[in-house]
Amino acid sequence: MNTATRRTVIAGNWKMNKTPSEAAAFVKELAPMVAGKDNCDIVACVPFVCLPAALEAAKGTNVQIGAQNVHFEKSGAFTGEISADMLLDLGVNYVIIGHSERRQYFGETNETVNKRVLAALNAGLKVILCIGELELEREQGITAEILGLQTKIALLGVTAEQLKNVIIAYEPVWAIGTGKTATDEQADEACGIVRDYIKALYGAEAAEATTIQYGGSMNAKNCAGLLAKVNVDGGLIGGASLKAPDFTVIVDAAQ
Ligand code: 13P
Repeated sequence: MNTATRRTVIAGNWKMNKTPSEAAAFVKELAPMVAGKDNCDIVACVPFVCLPAALEAAKGTNVQIGAQNVHFEKSGAFTGEISADMLLDLGVNYVIIGHSERRQYFGETNETVNKRVLAALNAGLKVILCIGELELEREQGITAEILGLQTKIALLGVTAEQLKNVIIAYEPVWAIGTGKTATDEQADEACGIVRDYIKALYGAEAAEATTIQYGGSMNAKNCAGLLAKVNVDGGLIGGASLKAPDFTVIVDAAQ
């Protein structure tokens, strides 16, 4: 973390877990545990149907609530989809875009990620943009190329001003839900590569100000080492974000 030039963000990605009532109970359990821990932003990205209950439970706390996806059109005949305006109207301020599970299971491409990023930013949401290489790509030594491709296409048309509302989550696909965390050094190196791409696109100051998280089996045990790295500005946490005490340990490590 480099808290002098950028904000640390600890975000949970609940994925398809918890019902609305479980979400409310969880936020009520978590909020007192993280109260006053303001050296990082604390976000829970919950399933769409949990948003109202989670937002209500988070009122008056330092826990912010995000969504896990957003459609790129403003409205219309897109059965089953949710627009940025719908999220904003609820009081949501963060949205995850381009998670590898969306790319893997739901046909998400760099191009649709870019469309969603633009729609979210134009509506005024903060974006957590997920990128990351497959195991094969790492083995082939093309991690940097993949991260460059994903970053550059996702940010096409994003202005320097809008970039201030973009957090990038570096999530190596081989580390997600596998218990196989990237080493502290691998995470730092990859986040540094992404920062270099941001520098090439937007300049040094913007690159230094951009929050770049690590995600992939981050947990209460390994978070301190990862967050100690200069290029790792927080975490996007799956499994360990579903247990309030574990998530709190990660928030504590970011203090
Ligand atoms: P895990 O922490 O469960 O590996 O999930 C990471 C992730 O995909 C967060 O978006």
